[in-house]
Amino acid sequence: MAGGKKGGSPSRSGVFNKPVDPLTEAFTQSISFDRVLCKYDIAGSIAHAKMLGKVGLIKRSEEESILRGLAEIQRDYDEGKINFSPEYEDIHMNVEKALEEKIGETAGKLHTARSRNDQIALDERLWLRDEVDEINRLLSALQEALLDLASEYASDVMPGYTHLQRAQPVTCGHYLLAYVEMFGRDKDRFGDTRRRANVLPLGACALAGTSLPIDRQYVAAILGFDGVTRNSMDTTADRDYLLDFAYSMSVCSLHLSRLSEDLILYSTTEFGLLEIDDAFCTGSSIMPQKRNPDLLELVRGKTGRSIGLLTHYLILLKGLPLTYNRDFQEDKELLFETVLQYKGCLQIIEALLRNVRFRRDRMAEACEVGYMDATALAEYLVRRGIPFRQAHHVAGKLVNLAAQKHVKLAELEIGEIQGVHALLGEEVRTVLGGKGVVQAYASEGSANPKFVLNAIEDWRGRLKSERGEPDAKGKRRK
Ligand code: ARG
Repeated sequence: MAGGKKGGSPSRSGVFNKPVDPLTEAFTQSISFDRVLCKYDIAGSIAHAKMLGKVGLIKRSEEESILRGLAEIQRDYDEGKINFSPEYEDIHMNVEKALEEKIGETAGKLHTARSRNDQIALDERLWLRDEVDEINRLLSALQEALLDLASEYASDVMPGYTHLQRAQPVTCGHYLLAYVEMFGRDKDRFGDTRRRANVLPLGACALAGTSLPIDRQYVAAILGFDGVTRNSMDTTADRDYLLDFAYSMSVCSLHLSRLSEDLILYSTTEFGLLEIDDAFCTGSSIMPQKRNPDLLELVRGKTGRSIGLLTHYLILLKGLPLTYNRDFQEDKELLFETVLQYKGCLQIIEALLRNVRFRRDRMAEACEVGYMDATALAEYLVRRGIPFRQAHHVAGKLVNLAAQKHVKLAELEIGEIQGVHALLGEEVRTVLGGKGVVQAYASEGSANPKFVLNAIEDWRGRLKSERGEPDAKGKRRK
């Protein structure tokens, strides 16, 4: 046995006179869920063994035998042939046990100058790097789907809402690009999380470091870390990287939830701005006519999981004394489940967006009801030198007049318009109506189709250079 004692985890040293109670074993084990870290645990051990060989803490022949054994364990894992057992508690001890079965006593040298406390921090950081990379690929795919839609509906007008009341006309492309921006910031946040997490914890050992002549920089280089952590106590007590990750997922889930809510509303009969393809709708077991947006509701509903995880971490960590505490083991189960569900949300939203149709006719009609061009009218007067507050008042009067006559602003007689303000001429009509209003927007970042097309091109370039391809202008961006 790696621990030198028959029956039980290698972590039970000679200090114990009894085997563990079965209840203790069942309660403390984490192998039922931390097995997903297997590949990272092995990668970490490979780097660690290479370092032990390099500095002479193990013989080269021992290093080779350990590396051979670990490679076999990885193969067994890939083929589903490893027999994980709660008897060996967690992934670290199970891998060590499997190694012992392959190469015998030499396996016991692998844990030199290492503790499970720095080992778990390593496994989690390696896992997190891969997850962030995958998540950011999914987010880019989602952005691409939004950009394709934004191109299709770049200059189609739709109502923009404040207080869920019709406010000002916007272009559908502009609306969709709002979410491209949000998901862009989400990727940044995940990127920051990855950057901060990308330092090697291994070598902190249990909490204090080691008296053995290890080479942490060497291990960091093998595993692609930017450097090594600076303080061994901080390292073994730290789970900030998981907090960052949970926060990044929470903010992004919140964006997904708001997008879902918009699309749910827009697809109702009442709004009627959007149609979701049959393949992405669900039916009712009783009402034959129903086509329900369950996917979007589930995405909205699953937001609670990420926020729950973040809350769980905040509570889990707040009272813990330095350094390692077994409470940390509770950081995993919810994490793995949450990230699976979260990635599922990203995938389903992308697929659904590739199967929606905005109803141009209804969006345009909606822009002609509710005097959404009143602000444009006020701004027209401002361009003619009228103070905004006065222009605002004048536009309000015209809205009143038009409402009494049950007509649009653009349908008022020129005499009626000039009766309210002499500076209003026939050409005011060019800024009225949905199309007139969006064409008149002139500020950077506004809903004018011209800015929408620029923004789409800009984002396409960004996504290209994120993939490592030069953008249309031949430059790589940061
Ligand atoms: N399974 C443990 C965890 O997830 C690994 C570290 C255990 N360390 C210890 N000293 N008991 O945190």
